[in-house]
Amino acid sequence: MARLPPISAASWALLLLVVVVSPCHSAAGGRPKAVALPVSRDDATRQYVATFQQRTPRVPVLNAVLDLSGATLWVDCDAGGYYASSSCSRVPCGSKTCRLVTKNTSPPPCLNRTCSGYAKNTVTNLGGSGEVVVVTELLSFPTTFPGLASAPLATAPAFVFTCGHTSLTEGLAVGATGMASLSSARFALPTQLAGAFRFSRKFALCLPSSASDAGVVVFGNARYLFDDMDHTNSLLYTPLLVNPVSRSSSSSSEYFISLKRIVVDDRPVPLNATLLEIGKNGGTKLSTVSPYTVLESSIHKAVTDAFAASMATAEIPRVPAVAPFELCYDGSKMESTIAGPTVPVFELYVQSVLKSKVAPWMVSGENLMVRVDGGALCLGVVDGGVAPETSVVIGSHMMEDVLLEFDLEGSRLGFSPNLRAFQLSCSMFRLG
Ligand SMILES: *[C@@H]1O[C@H](CO)[C@@H](O)[C@H](O)[C@H]1NC(C)=O
Ligand SMILES: *[C@@H]1O[C@H](CO)[C@@H](O)[C@H](O)[C@H]1NC(C)=O
Repeated sequence: MARLPPISAASWALLLLVVVVSPCHSAAGGRPKAVALPVSRDDATRQYVATFQQRTPRVPVLNAVLDLSGATLWVDCDAGGYYASSSCSRVPCGSKTCRLVTKNTSPPPCLNRTCSGYAKNTVTNLGGSGEVVVVTELLSFPTTFPGLASAPLATAPAFVFTCGHTSLTEGLAVGATGMASLSSARFALPTQLAGAFRFSRKFALCLPSSASDAGVVVFGNARYLFDDMDHTNSLLYTPLLVNPVSRSSSSSSEYFISLKRIVVDDRPVPLNATLLEIGKNGGTKLSTVSPYTVLESSIHKAVTDAFAASMATAEIPRVPAVAPFELCYDGSKMESTIAGPTVPVFELYVQSVLKSKVAPWMVSGENLMVRVDGGALCLGVVDGGVAPETSVVIGSHMMEDVLLEFDLEGSRLGFSPNLRAFQLSCSMFRLG
């Protein structure tokens, strides 16, 4: 078997072309229990950008937009000089990795004897195949958060990803040169990192609520420490579901949950239960590329009517709607706490992992209201039209400052209350 030469500060490990599934776990410098990926919010696009680092020196090499769907990490290789990196190698066509990456296509496509894959920008929904090649690269991850300069990095020696072209990065946050998939797909980050580091297929996501705040994705087995508060045991759990009726093959690796009912200001919202059932036009999924929660038309109407009625009771003056939102209010007339504007709370009752029980996902001001230009505060839900692919898409605004644990082995999603209510935030997360 091919071996990696020793890694020096000056030269990255040279990964030989034949090494696809690398036998070189020694390069990882011990097996970490968990690794972290720092995340920041781009306010212009409302995308969340993860920063991957090079081994030494500790400079960012790649900014990629996080995506709970998608198939793998893809990178703009035209710009990044990735082909030139000594640790980057192309996956040969005949290899097992190529067969796995391209398992939905036969025969495995080939480009100059290099495995040819597919990359999709899930923000613009544009895809690129053709000259999209599959490569492996050495990727390093901090084992601490915040990533202290002295802390060790853990190295995945042969991370598989696809090389897209610059045109595919259109629509991404400035500085982002690719997208990093957190889906349950075989070559998305959670499963590849679990393989490289031999930890569980599990990650926790904490999205920051401003551009100046730090967020994090933690892969593996970590305790959820925020400063000195341990939130590991304070999560509620709902089963993670696979959509059996996927319009697109990729949606089978997205994260669906079972939403049973919505309560606004203590009153149940009348909903068509069929639309909440996972299936052809139903179900509830989580999305980080959708900034706001998108609701099928009849659900949107029922929810906004309920919210508007509560706000009318509280005598908060409405102001003209600001697209894409329908309900906007005079921000100066609204009280605010550390957990955001004081508005009626949404309770999303989801299936509990405890049989025949439901668990409440409480959504309060910070996760409901969006401040728009001019100072109005709008309810951050969007009308998804009649018969959308998914009835309820929980967008990233509702996930900010909430700790979400995606446990792929246990097929369950853990969620915390909004951390701000405890005077905490994602940036207070501590690993290592
Ligand atoms: C494939 O080979 C041709 C001819 O050598 C070259 O022009 C082209 O850039 C190569 N394509 C890739 C993706 O490397
Ligand atoms: C509920 O939604 C389903 C699916 O769109 C539809 O077929 C049905 O007619 C709806 N039921 C009611 C009472 O509106």
